[in-house]
Amino acid sequence: MPRIARDLQALKAEVLQRPLPRHVGIIMDGNGRWAAQRGLPRIEGHRKGSDSVSEVTRAARRLGLPALTLYAFSAQNWERPPDEVEGLMDLLREYLFKERAEIMDNDIRLHAIGDLDRLPARVREPLDELRRDSAGNLKMILTLALSYGGREEIIAMVRKVAEDKLRPEQIDAKAVEDRLWTAGLPPLELVVRTSGEVRVSNFLLWQLAYAEIHLSETLWPDFGELDLLLALEDFQRRERRFGKTSAQLRRS
Ligand code: FPP
Repeated sequence: MPRIARDLQALKAEVLQRPLPRHVGIIMDGNGRWAAQRGLPRIEGHRKGSDSVSEVTRAARRLGLPALTLYAFSAQNWERPPDEVEGLMDLLREYLFKERAEIMDNDIRLHAIGDLDRLPARVREPLDELRRDSAGNLKMILTLALSYGGREEIIAMVRKVAEDKLRPEQIDAKAVEDRLWTAGLPPLELVVRTSGEVRVSNFLLWQLAYAEIHLSETLWPDFGELDLLLALEDFQRRERRFGKTSAQLRRS
């Protein structure tokens, strides 16, 4: 159904009647196109995208989602023009100061995955501080994927397996998951990609194995609570078979 034809409160009531995914990941895409459509510099798209991060986090928390992971900066994004990279780092720093009270007051634990050592100190320091201060918060885990790549995460996991000197017969799914950056997070059940693109783009490659995928046409700076609800409604309509048949699921 078209996005504009839905009543937000009615949709929210419907979505809240059915089980929610335990962990939602979002590939936030379309900031550049949003800016270009308005004749603005790309960074203005990212700035408006940062407001969507706040709105969607607030909506996810109010709905009761246990875990939300946002792909904010990929390992490959370092290759973008230096002024765009600098602008994104400034926005991340601003976000960490601006959202601190909201995160603490709403019992949200801030977590981060990726090659965090590559982040400049002006981002890493407030990030570490908020991760530390929010570590005891219990209502929702908000994970920022920063300098993150799924292949890079798998390489880091394999290195840990080697460092831990695991014997081949000790390597199973649990041994892998315990060594991924996402260790301890609930299983990823829904991935949303915005802006009409149909790619995984190196996001949570291992974790995607049985996640449902929702593709939204909305550009990330326009993405809000209604779009999140539409993604959740789509998830709730899916039959999750995990390799089994529909008949087997009906019997179990
Ligand atoms: C992709 O859009 C988006 C990014 C590379 C960065 C995402 C960053 C934000 C949403 C803002 C900062 C984040 C936080 C957590 C405050 P694109 O630039 O590739 O868009 P395009 O495909 O239209 O060019």
